[in-house]
Amino acid sequence: MEIRRVGVVGAGTMGNGIAHVFARSGYLVVLCDVEQRFLDRALETIAKNLDRELTKNKITAETRAAALKRIEPVIDRTRLAECDFVVEAATEKLDLKAGIFRDLDRICRPEIVLSSNTSSISITKLGALTKRPDKVIGMHFFNPVPMMKLVEVIRGLATSNETFEQVRDLAVKLEKTPVEVNDAPGFVSNRVLMPLLNEAMFAVMEGVATPEAVDEVFKLGMAHPMGPLALADFIGLDVCLDIMRVLQDGLGDPKYRPCPLLIKMVDAGWLGKKSGRGFYRY
Ligand SMILES: NC(=O)c1ccc[n+]([C@@H]2O[C@H](COP(=O)([O-])OP(=O)(O)OC[C@H]3O[C@@H](n4cnc5c(N)ncnc54)[C@H](O)[C@@H]3O)[C@@H](O)[C@H]2O)c1
Repeated sequence: MEIRRVGVVGAGTMGNGIAHVFARSGYLVVLCDVEQRFLDRALETIAKNLDRELTKNKITAETRAAALKRIEPVIDRTRLAECDFVVEAATEKLDLKAGIFRDLDRICRPEIVLSSNTSSISITKLGALTKRPDKVIGMHFFNPVPMMKLVEVIRGLATSNETFEQVRDLAVKLEKTPVEVNDAPGFVSNRVLMPLLNEAMFAVMEGVATPEAVDEVFKLGMAHPMGPLALADFIGLDVCLDIMRVLQDGLGDPKYRPCPLLIKMVDAGWLGKKSGRGFYRY
């Protein structure tokens, strides 16, 4: 089946980036969120990011204009019935995603693949909520989506080879590099990355070093482009906490205990870059 129109559920940090790359590659995009203001903000961000690509001569003015025209913002989820493929990129909460997957299963044609950009929630579990578990898969993009090459493609227990191949080929068409991973809490990326970020937070909490010093160690000593605390701010501290909880619940090892400082900062509404304050001020 040829994929022409793609549904993206959730127009936040990741959803707007995913809509951006599909539209830039010539796909029609139905971008869905729960309130008009989230859709307006997403379209503004996409336009700004396309402008940046234009300034850097990565795209032409025609590509920019055509990409923007291909994105249709909607609140009514039933509009996803017209889509040939769906990526869910809503807030990282199991109950919320479960509701969305049950709905998508009702709304979308039975042959359509439903993918999730979840950072850590079980693809097998999401698949089991639908009547098409063979057509449910993880398509995990990285932030910022227009720039990052990797797509972690996650097979749930019931995901078929045909579904996997469709998503792998789609990632290549978006000029991304797909990497195959099996379903397990946090997959590979967050299973390894989040405990690093969490441990950096413990180091700050225990007064071992300031956030700036921890980040300098990683930038200069390990050649990371960004230190772990700046990265945590960039990802969103609420997102980091949600992922640590998935690792803790799913793997049951005390080494995945979220840092108390992280919990306190999220309680305070210090969510990192998006809220103006995290380990740094923005
Ligand atoms: N932030 C990252 O660096 C990153 C990286 C990879 C994957 N992810 C994953 O991507 C997903 C989205 O994360 P984000 O950082 O973009 O979050 P975000 O908070 O920036 O955006 C989430 C969006 O989902 C919308 N939403 C909530 N309920 C919805 C519903 N029922 N229908 C439609 N939209 C709904 C919200 O209004 C919001 O606009 C999560 O699963 C997260 O784990 C995040």
